[in-house]
Amino acid sequence: MSNIVILGAQWGDESKGKLTDVFAENADVVARYQGGDNAGHTIVLGDKTFILHLIPSGILRPNTVNVIGNGVVINLETLLREIDGLQAQGVEVNSDNLKISDRAHLIMPYHKMVEQWEQMGSTTKIGTTSRGIGPTYSDKMNRHAGIRVGDLLEFDHFQKKLDYNLETKADALQSGDVTRHSLLETFYRYAERISPYITDTVAYMHEVLAADKRILFEGAQGTMLDIDFGTYPYVTSSNCTVGAVCTGLGIGPKVIENVMGVSKAYVTRVGGGPFPTEMPPDLDEHIRDIGKEYGATTQRPRRCGWLDLVALRYATQINGLTAIALTKLDVFDTLTDIQVCVAYRYKGKETTIFPSSLKVLEECEPVYETLPGWQQGLTKARSPEDIPQRTRDYIKYVSDYLNVPIPIISVGPDREQIVQLGAPLW
Ligand code: IMP
Repeated sequence: MSNIVILGAQWGDESKGKLTDVFAENADVVARYQGGDNAGHTIVLGDKTFILHLIPSGILRPNTVNVIGNGVVINLETLLREIDGLQAQGVEVNSDNLKISDRAHLIMPYHKMVEQWEQMGSTTKIGTTSRGIGPTYSDKMNRHAGIRVGDLLEFDHFQKKLDYNLETKADALQSGDVTRHSLLETFYRYAERISPYITDTVAYMHEVLAADKRILFEGAQGTMLDIDFGTYPYVTSSNCTVGAVCTGLGIGPKVIENVMGVSKAYVTRVGGGPFPTEMPPDLDEHIRDIGKEYGATTQRPRRCGWLDLVALRYATQINGLTAIALTKLDVFDTLTDIQVCVAYRYKGKETTIFPSSLKVLEECEPVYETLPGWQQGLTKARSPEDIPQRTRDYIKYVSDYLNVPIPIISVGPDREQIVQLGAPLW
């Protein structure tokens, strides 16, 4: 048995997609377990760029089976568009290499409208991706309203659930143009197209485990956006931390061997919420330009900050990280000095504990350690000998602080721009 979880250790967008794609080479199965099409994984293969929102990155590898687990919320319009787009680019997608859980919940067109409606009535500007993620997870938990993928296979049941939703959400739907008739028509078509992919993925995962296949569990978003452990309410509506691998696929914790957290050499976040290490505007803009820090799903500019080791240690603890992949190191190539946040100062006292209260977090000032920049291009580095001493010092500093190995770094967007520093993880 050899499995690995690859998840975001920060606020999402850590280049998990690229790492997942690289590790997928050795995977028999790549399984997603939470989130929805709020995620956007960009994978660059030569002159082709693929942006995947729902389908696991293993789809770009022949012979890899991709699973969308019960913990994921699925927008069928996005999913079918993604399947069509991949097929148009010559990627094979069929019921053998894509399996969709019958227990996963559906994002319905009205969920986006409910989200807008809720935003209008709220003073908290979360800055969501407007994909209807929150209302879909709310309906799942509420139990009366949630519609699952499997319901499409019993269409009269689907119809009853739809009627319940149209009635109870009437206020939010006033302004929109969804009609019962158009929804039924659309989802009847979706059901026909999607049914070959619908699978009891719990049974499938256990088949795969029994056969000792290699599984890569692909996370979406990041630890600090986790509904329980993130900067609530500026979070997404799922657990993005390691526990969701079990609940989002129906497997036990002992199955998980390696948990690799992906972290940028700095921090970015989209949407609202406090961000102690946010850079001053000129540097923020510089890093955003070099790092091309614009959301893959929404194109929104990302806010940039120095690496926050207080937050990253918190992420290390919650997820039991066994390794960290440090990405986008090349973005620092021209800097003379690099700051790293090693503690927060709150009411005159230093702390290394990440607070649960946003009010406290807002008042925390970062305590920085300054490390020298390497002022050398890293993008062509492929082996440890290509890495300058000062870059190694930076990596070692982070690894020592967290007490977690950093066996792999990324120095550019391409699949090849990876340097393996330690023994391969699997
Ligand atoms: P939601 O997931 O659309 O409800 O958005 C909630 C928060 O999570 C917002 O701040 C989003 O910008 C953020 N978010 C959701 N998905 C991602 C992601 O894949 N990367 C980065 N941020 C995300």
